[in-house]
Amino acid sequence: MKTSITLLKSLLFLSLCTLVISSCQDEKVVIEDVLPEQTTGYYSSSEQAHLNSILSLPTAGPFDYNVNVAREIAGSLGQTTINSDLATLGRVLFYDKEVSKTSAVSCGSCHKQELAFADDAAFSEGFSGAHTDRNSLSLGSFISFQLYYDTPIGPAPTAGFFWDERATSLGEQMAQTIANDKEMGMDLSELSDKLSSPDHMHYRVLFNKAFGDHNIYPNRIVSALEAFVNSMVTSNSRYDKEIIASGGINARAEFPNFTAAENRGKDIFMSNCASCHGSSITAAHRSQVNAGVLTVANNGLDVNYADQGLGEVSNHDYDNGKFKVPVLRNIELSAPYMHDGRFETLEEVVEFYSTGVQDHDNLHPNLKDNNGPKKLNLSPSDSEALVAFLKTFTDQTFITAEKYSDPFVK
Ligand code: HEC
Ligand code: HEC
Repeated sequence: MKTSITLLKSLLFLSLCTLVISSCQDEKVVIEDVLPEQTTGYYSSSEQAHLNSILSLPTAGPFDYNVNVAREIAGSLGQTTINSDLATLGRVLFYDKEVSKTSAVSCGSCHKQELAFADDAAFSEGFSGAHTDRNSLSLGSFISFQLYYDTPIGPAPTAGFFWDERATSLGEQMAQTIANDKEMGMDLSELSDKLSSPDHMHYRVLFNKAFGDHNIYPNRIVSALEAFVNSMVTSNSRYDKEIIASGGINARAEFPNFTAAENRGKDIFMSNCASCHGSSITAAHRSQVNAGVLTVANNGLDVNYADQGLGEVSNHDYDNGKFKVPVLRNIELSAPYMHDGRFETLEEVVEFYSTGVQDHDNLHPNLKDNNGPKKLNLSPSDSEALVAFLKTFTDQTFITAEKYSDPFVK
């Protein structure tokens, strides 16, 4: 029906043109306005118009957000299907300051791509100017984020989100973060209403692509953010390239393209750090290290902690001073370090493990020897080697990938 009307109009236009040639220019503009929507790219012309002034998204269709990581790095866990329209919506929400109560901060304010989605302040500034209680955590893993924490290998417990693991799913983490009175201060229903208003037409377009209709609900907001965060895969560091080139997990072998110092650092790491942090290197390695994945531990930062971490959530003394064993991927970029950002550099972190581990009641056995806290007493060259190795986890592709970047037109 529409086509035949268009055809009629076109014929009419043509005949008008031949009859009144001088008026053709003006007439053409009018006629284009009443033509049905053109779908030239992925979005229709009117959808594109809603997006254009606000967002810079690929016009040919969304980036591919499916997770596809080499088997050598991720074992059998490297493939995750992610709806790319949903992740695109998540990307927009992630960088939208409107998501916070005062429109002052977005997720991206405290999770900056160039810093591996961490923040360079020890405590980040939230929507009201108040600061967070803990240091922002970097995002990105070598498999889907949720999967990384969630996949039980054998009888292993699953790990939660946040430094104290208080959120048991990524969705719960998102909801808590958006509502948090220091972070975004926003009620999810209020947010749904806000984003549904006519001055946010771009959201109607994006929700429609992701869900088939343009309605905005709290659970849709959460699942879009989840899809985006789950798609954040970092698996192209120099460390990863060596693992792939060497045909799989053979952590003890020397890597041909590493310097002597980096290889030395790798040995020190495998002997002293991998028992806790090994899972952040490869999934396969994680299952090799121990069936019971270590997700939280006390690493002896203090004898008395100002912040009890897991102990504040569980109220058990035996949990005091226990915090998430963090992912060390891109660790070079996510300074400052520890839950309170107390260390500015990796050199300071290594110095701490070398000489500074404190005899806390809950100090994990991996950091103890017969005489109490283990002192590695690394020589200056071994300390440098360990730092050099930690820097091989840096993935430039991840921190520059457009699909993870801020899509808002400034
Ligand atoms: C005001 C700063 C701030 C904002 C805004 C913010 N975050 Fe965070 N984020 C943090 C801090 C700080 C932590 C660690 C908090 C803790 O553990 O108690 C964190 C933790 C997380 C974690 C847990 C990571 C892990 O390894 O357990 C995820 C995931 C996350 N944020 C995603 C988001 C998303 C998505 C948004 C937007 C909806 C967001 N954050 C907004 C500061 C912020
Ligand atoms: C007993 C388990 C354990 C061992 C062994 C261990 N760590 Fe840690 N590591 C942790 C925990 C837990 C944290 C977080 C502590 C906190 O913030 O309170 C942490 C934090 C870190 C951080 C800061 C991460 C961040 O995002 O802020 C770095 C870097 C680090 N460790 C490197 C190492 C190195 C290098 C070694 C070996 C010399 C090592 N760790 C050995 C458990 C361990």
